[in-house]
Amino acid sequence: MTSQRFLTGITTSGTPHLGNYVGSIRPSVRASQRADVQSFYFLADYHALIKVEDPARIQRSTLEIAASWLACGLNPERVTFYRQSDIPEIPELTWFLTCVLGKGVLNRAHAYKASVDKNTAAGIDPDADVSAGLFMYPVLMGADILMFNAHKVPVGRDQIQHIEMARDMANSFNHRYGEHFVPPEAEIEESVATLPGLDGRKMSKSYDNTIPLFAPRAQLQKLIGGIVTDSRAPGEPKAVEGSALFQIYQAFATPAETDSLRQAYADGIGWGDAKQRLFERIDQEIAPMRETYLALLADPAKIEHTLLAGAVKARALATPFMGALRQAVGLRDLRSTDQAVSTKAAKVERPLFKQYRESDGQFYFKLLDAQGQLLLQSLGFATPREAGQAIAQLKAEGAAALAALGAQLQPVNTEAQAPLEAALKALREGD
Ligand code: TRP
Repeated sequence: MTSQRFLTGITTSGTPHLGNYVGSIRPSVRASQRADVQSFYFLADYHALIKVEDPARIQRSTLEIAASWLACGLNPERVTFYRQSDIPEIPELTWFLTCVLGKGVLNRAHAYKASVDKNTAAGIDPDADVSAGLFMYPVLMGADILMFNAHKVPVGRDQIQHIEMARDMANSFNHRYGEHFVPPEAEIEESVATLPGLDGRKMSKSYDNTIPLFAPRAQLQKLIGGIVTDSRAPGEPKAVEGSALFQIYQAFATPAETDSLRQAYADGIGWGDAKQRLFERIDQEIAPMRETYLALLADPAKIEHTLLAGAVKARALATPFMGALRQAVGLRDLRSTDQAVSTKAAKVERPLFKQYRESDGQFYFKLLDAQGQLLLQSLGFATPREAGQAIAQLKAEGAAALAALGAQLQPVNTEAQAPLEAALKALREGD
């Protein structure tokens, strides 16, 4: 079995904080050490241009995030670690995908819709202050993923819709031009805690409640001193439920250490002492990496070199793949004749499933015979995945699946039954 490809990007728009570390950097570095996984990690600096207008900040953030990954143990020899803007094939693929994706799908993207809803509520133009880049964000992200045919994309819940859109792009392209892309899947890390920030809400730049991952010791101690607590005095028992301090501790400590702090809460530990324990525990894990981080920051040439080497590795895959995709869509050397036959004409020699989305937002499929005549039409499915599963069942079980799927299909009239069964049989034998 070939190994699974995992791919993760981080937008280079700020300084990494403890929430990024616990939620993304630490689990990804661990995953990258697994032998059965081939990982791709990249700095999403094209994505950063959508939200950051300050060039110095983009450059600084790229340096800081790259140094953080490396300091936290990412081994660029084992994984492919690169900067998005070093791979010109990615914006090229973005355009190909732009041309196969329905605009309506982008209209329904959460981030875009949130801006539109906000503007509408404020009574101003729905698209006020919305750049075309924000609108196109999911397509660029789709290109990131499909460029390397990643199977799994570890993401937070807020990104699931983007992965579904990438599947949509992969399927649309494949239906038009043949099987080139693996439809990716989101890998949701249920076990990874969202870390609370200083004010108890989720640690996030937009709440201004973060602790920078590599804050110097003194600053770390001071920030931890500012974590919200209740007003219970030393000696009074404290509740661990809803305690941001306790949750952050838990993200760093062993189960035994966590139990010991739980006991200390019950015994009435003072908040000052509890904060000191948290500070020492975090610093114990971070301090060795902080030294590496500072050394890396002081040597940008070394990081630049690492990223360029990563780009060479990434482009060794991307350049030939993009070449094949250019061929597939018809951007070809005019002298080549062997490719001049339409892939469409070649494909209709066999019955063909087509999957698509309607303006009602539902997902459908149909089966066409070799001449393009309709043999079978589905009803609407809520997700592309369910439609895909029904197709898979028809491909695997042939006509036997028709009865089981009956409620999701348009009725087939009697004279169409025989050609339909023949087509399903041909598909089964062909695969
Ligand atoms: N959208 C992601 C974020 O906001 C960053 C990102 C860009 C990404 N391209 C990606 C993540 C591809 C996974 C795969 O964090």
